[in-house]
Amino acid sequence: MNKQLNKLIVFAFFLVFLGACTTAEQTFIEVKSPSNNISVEFFLKSDGSPNYLVKYKDKLVIDTSALGFELKDQPALNDSFRIIRADKNSVNEQWELPWGEQRIVKNNYNEVVVKLKERKRKRTMSIYFKAYDDGIAFRYEIHEQKGVDSLIILNENTQFKLTEDPTCWWIPANWQSYEHLYNTTKFSEIDALSKKEGHGLGHSQIPYNAVHTPFTMRNADGLHLSFHEAALLNYASMTLKIDPKNLSMTSQLVGSERLGYAVKRALPFKTPWRSIQITEKAKDLIASNLILNLNEPNKLGDVSYFKPMKYVGIWWEMHVGKSSWDMASKKHGATTKNAKYYIDFAAKNNIKGLLVEGWNTGWEVWGREDREGVFDFVTPYPDYDIKEVVRYAKEKGIEIIMHHETSAAPRTYEKQLDTAYKFMQSLDIHSVKTGYVGKIIPKGEFHHGQWMINHYQKVFETAANYKIAVDVHEPIKETGLRRTYPNAISREALRGQEFNAWAADGGNPPEHISIIAFTTMLGGPIDFTPGVFKFKVSDKNQINTTLAQQLALYVVIYSPIQMACDLPENYEGKPAFQFIRDVGVDWEQTKVLDGEVGDFVCIARQERETKNWFLGCVTDEESRYITINFDFLEKGKKYEAIIYSDAKDSQWKENPTAINIEKMEITSDMEKRFELAEGGGLAISLMLKK
Ligand code: NOJ
Ligand code: CA
Repeated sequence: MNKQLNKLIVFAFFLVFLGACTTAEQTFIEVKSPSNNISVEFFLKSDGSPNYLVKYKDKLVIDTSALGFELKDQPALNDSFRIIRADKNSVNEQWELPWGEQRIVKNNYNEVVVKLKERKRKRTMSIYFKAYDDGIAFRYEIHEQKGVDSLIILNENTQFKLTEDPTCWWIPANWQSYEHLYNTTKFSEIDALSKKEGHGLGHSQIPYNAVHTPFTMRNADGLHLSFHEAALLNYASMTLKIDPKNLSMTSQLVGSERLGYAVKRALPFKTPWRSIQITEKAKDLIASNLILNLNEPNKLGDVSYFKPMKYVGIWWEMHVGKSSWDMASKKHGATTKNAKYYIDFAAKNNIKGLLVEGWNTGWEVWGREDREGVFDFVTPYPDYDIKEVVRYAKEKGIEIIMHHETSAAPRTYEKQLDTAYKFMQSLDIHSVKTGYVGKIIPKGEFHHGQWMINHYQKVFETAANYKIAVDVHEPIKETGLRRTYPNAISREALRGQEFNAWAADGGNPPEHISIIAFTTMLGGPIDFTPGVFKFKVSDKNQINTTLAQQLALYVVIYSPIQMACDLPENYEGKPAFQFIRDVGVDWEQTKVLDGEVGDFVCIARQERETKNWFLGCVTDEESRYITINFDFLEKGKKYEAIIYSDAKDSQWKENPTAINIEKMEITSDMEKRFELAEGGGLAISLMLKK
């Protein structure tokens, strides 16, 4: 339940009537964050165009930037306005996450809602501005118009004008995938069009230089800014079109080539929030709850049918080519016998879930053009006795995670949603991993357009009716919707571990996670699937981290489902596997201890149920010393620690599996220095002593 705890809402409404204001450019409407460090100012230029700017400690960080829309069948909504009122209000409350990287979330901000009216055409819209201590956000509300029931948006022209040329971490705004490696360049050097790698889908549909959000940058004085959106519902995803010369970017909505526009909405409606997280230290970007706070409270009520869990899967063996999804290949992975092998392994090792891919008919035509209507979500292959697998799993205390690969044919999936979920309900299965590999059918729609966003949302809502939680691969990015729909448990939205199994470029480089933690992960939970123990997967591919880093990923990456992705036989007899057995997945609190984007990150999390702590650090291709101050532990308590650190000779390429494992007692007054190898990591379990 999403209980509202200690709810302290201070409503302060100041109705500022500005009807008489004719020299509108002189009216600045300002809203400051509770600490006064961050402020947003809204004003109209002399042509009545709405603009805003943002300051951090009185220094301009977003310079005068335009707001507005380009519409179909109507003139643009971007000038000739006057301000007709401004309402202010403040909120200071806390609320509870049913599962998450922490239990209690503080939500403290000041807000102003500015209502605008066009001088001649008289169309009206409001802009909501919120100022938090860790950033700002705004959204538009388009009001009713006489004789018009819906509006077609060709593009949204929300500008973000920078005040300098920061260092940026970016991926190109491919309309159907986030599966790109991050680039680190100055803003003025962003050239997203030159980046062609990814799922082979290319991004020919973006003939301009644009990046995906969360988009993180660091100014010369060390201030961090991260641009994203929150509550992305019934709208198209926002990418950011880069104007390198003018150090400016503008929202570019993902379009529909089939329909010839980006968004169609009935009036009135509100857009998603456009957000900028602003923190001095990189680590505070991860600690920020801005995106979650911008979303509406839980609409589903009790979601206790979903329990955060670690899981294994008939999965990695397909990616490394040992078995296959389809049965015709003669090396079918999803057999009753194989499932029981994984179940036995999970039951012995404190792992609660088993994902089985390739269990259902249709995989023979996966990837083909004519794949619509082919996948079937209730018919198992003959060598997979799903009832027997579920029965056996239950006997051993293991839950099955269902798998629905839609092959990017969402209409086929929608037709079967109720049947598929009823089938799951009959088997008492409460979570599903979905997938959307390939170009969306119908042609002209993209993974991140309004049509697909509505599809993903329909899946979450229908699943909720059947008490089912959903982990989406090839998803739309997370924008904090897990607050409102807490059955939206995890998403891929990045180059996951699977790339390390087969990517032609050799997989994710050692710096990958030290960028992901400050970019993709700011949106929400990530299904990265950590835990490879057998590093050499083929002649061409090896995992580009050390073993200690694979362990650290269970803490650094947040997801309420965390896979132990390797094959049971690769874990057998390995002392380091004890960390995966022990590590939690649901957290009472999280402390981001240190980090720099693209270099390293160190996070400690306290398990909700046991109050034990787990710590994870990862570094990029550079080795480094990290000093951990254990003052986050409860004072006066003793913890039995197991420390998994890189060995003296560990190195991601030459010697990834070398690891030191050491037991010792740790208390909150201790400090210890550790060396992380190149591409290395550190993982520590800290169990409360009775
Ligand atoms: C891509 C997903 O990311 C991967 O996890 C899955 O195994 C395949 N699609 C098949 O559905
Ligand atoms: Ca680096």
